[in-house]
Amino acid sequence: MSTESLSHGHPTFPPDPALTAQANGTEAMYAAAADDHEGFWAEQARKYLSWATDFTQTLDWSGAPFASWFVGGELNAAYNCVDRHVEAGHGDRVAIHFEGEPGDSRTITYADLQREVSKAANALESLGVGKGDTVAIYLPMIPEAAIAMLACARIGAPHSVVFGGFSAEALNTRINDAQCKVVITADGGYRRGAPSALKPAVDAALDHADTTVEKVLVVKRTGQDTPWNADRDLWWSDVVDAASEEHTPVPHDAEHPLFILYTSGTTGKPKGIFHTTGGYLTQCAYTNAVVHDVHPESDVYWCTADIGWVTGHSYIVYGPLALGATQVMYEGTPDTPHQGRWWEIIQKYKVTILYTAPTAVRTFMKWGHDIPEKFDLSSLRVLGSVGEPINPEAWLWYRKYIGGDRCPIVDTWWQTETGAIMISPLPGVTTLEPGSAQKPIPGICAEILDDEGMPFAEADKVGYLVLTKPWPAMLRGIWGDPERYKQTYWSRFGEKYYFAGDGAKYDADGNIWLLGRVDDVMNVSGHRLSTAEIESALVSHPAVAEAAVVGASDETTGQAVCAFVIVRSEHADEVAADEKAMIAELRNHVAKEIGPIAKPRTIMIVTELPKTRSGKIMRRLLKDVAEGREIGDVTTLADSSVMGVIKQGLGSD
Ligand code: WTA
Repeated sequence: MSTESLSHGHPTFPPDPALTAQANGTEAMYAAAADDHEGFWAEQARKYLSWATDFTQTLDWSGAPFASWFVGGELNAAYNCVDRHVEAGHGDRVAIHFEGEPGDSRTITYADLQREVSKAANALESLGVGKGDTVAIYLPMIPEAAIAMLACARIGAPHSVVFGGFSAEALNTRINDAQCKVVITADGGYRRGAPSALKPAVDAALDHADTTVEKVLVVKRTGQDTPWNADRDLWWSDVVDAASEEHTPVPHDAEHPLFILYTSGTTGKPKGIFHTTGGYLTQCAYTNAVVHDVHPESDVYWCTADIGWVTGHSYIVYGPLALGATQVMYEGTPDTPHQGRWWEIIQKYKVTILYTAPTAVRTFMKWGHDIPEKFDLSSLRVLGSVGEPINPEAWLWYRKYIGGDRCPIVDTWWQTETGAIMISPLPGVTTLEPGSAQKPIPGICAEILDDEGMPFAEADKVGYLVLTKPWPAMLRGIWGDPERYKQTYWSRFGEKYYFAGDGAKYDADGNIWLLGRVDDVMNVSGHRLSTAEIESALVSHPAVAEAAVVGASDETTGQAVCAFVIVRSEHADEVAADEKAMIAELRNHVAKEIGPIAKPRTIMIVTELPKTRSGKIMRRLLKDVAEGREIGDVTTLADSSVMGVIKQGLGSD
């Protein structure tokens, strides 16, 4: 491309002027937000949402670190995501193009969604669910997941969505912690070409005398045989389908809890991160508009996350629906029934904006670019990435083979706790630097601190990412544990800074590079090294498909770099012929890319990596292997057999 220029050995990509001309985000927003932080957010709240009662104060930070945003304001999140679009004459616009894994599909317009959400809200009320009661949602990726969430929001019942891949045990802990009154689930969902049951896990989770759950509402998705407790269980089709299509949404306080979402912390007990209504919805809608550049009248947007994670909450349900956008929802895995399924879906619905995770991009790289090349992806215009750092090689592959060398990629940094995107380039505004999330978006303020808690601006020095001003979608606390909230996020560097738990650095141009969780930052002979950086170096070698790095304890150096590497299939013969030579080459490659200090002490060539169901590599387990320990708890692995495969491959079992 003629517009590329080189930075850090990689090309950078200035915005296409045609995109700049129509983009929702503008350069001027940065200055506007810097001049008047609260005024800027007040403007977004009024621009993107419909308030039943306008707010009288934008931010009350007097009880820091507990924030109140849009004080005195009242609104209904479901009204904002559904009814107002119908009132504005967009009832016929498609809200959700649902694609089931077996190939079934459903088209749900905003008018349909209004009827479905109203029926579900009436049904929940008929089961005794009222404002302030909590509802657990344990569903596959089907439209009822979004409908159930919106029905809860409509009646002011905070939902607690639990990812469908979690075990009965995990579900039990979460239901008890939030004291849920009702569970909404399904008989099952489709996964890798077969029905996969969900209801038995709910039964097991509720098999305790002290459960607070009164009713279980079951969506029929697969039609498989389902164990039944006639005193407690009800079919969604009986209760919801029979309910009235009319339901009046009442306004709730801006700070009324919208949902709880559990995420793992450094201790074993998951944290119930809770979010409220007005601030959360404001930032979801604003970021979906300026970061993904969603234009509801013309775009077809697709976020591939599961609704069980925060990305699904903010960028499948609340952001795009608040904007009145049209989106795709897909139930299954990317390789069912073939490895081109996603590209087939993009071609079918003419998807214009795709938001996915680096782990997916690297998987597609491993499968080969000839697969996406068989499909027409010319409808795409913006690509997004979230969940972990995206290494420049994956970024460049994503741009070239999925984005047709023309689509900007927004690498978006945020967390369950932040509720919405915080650091990201803006399409049409930012010159893109592959591998970097670049800058806080307008309205967000971040710094990088050193060990002593001092902000710095020097390039290439590794520090801790902190947020320096409250933001509307910030968590309001940990459900039932205000002390843990203060302790976890507001004590590491004092009350002024929200401690994100991520390592970060600036480059010479002032771009922010996220370097992984600080617990993943290694210290080798007094030098700080990022697992992400070494992984990126390994993946930049043509033979490497995927890599995971851990710091294993070492008597001499404190920690030593230990890498697990999956080799691309085209290079399998080389490994079979001389594995040692390949390992030596990779060690030297890392030394060349970063420096001799980063050279892994050990490289193990494996065929799989242990990942959670959300695609995060479980370094803790690799650390166990690297340190020659018994392997710890594997219950949160997507595939619990992976550790056996790894150990066997290494000949240690
Ligand atoms: C990591 C997901 C680098 C980070 C939305 C963060 C990222 C954690 C990025 C939150 C990114 C997320 N670049 N790292 N673009 N996005 N992370 O709560 O370590 O599941 O703290 O939220 O993921 O994960 P969570």
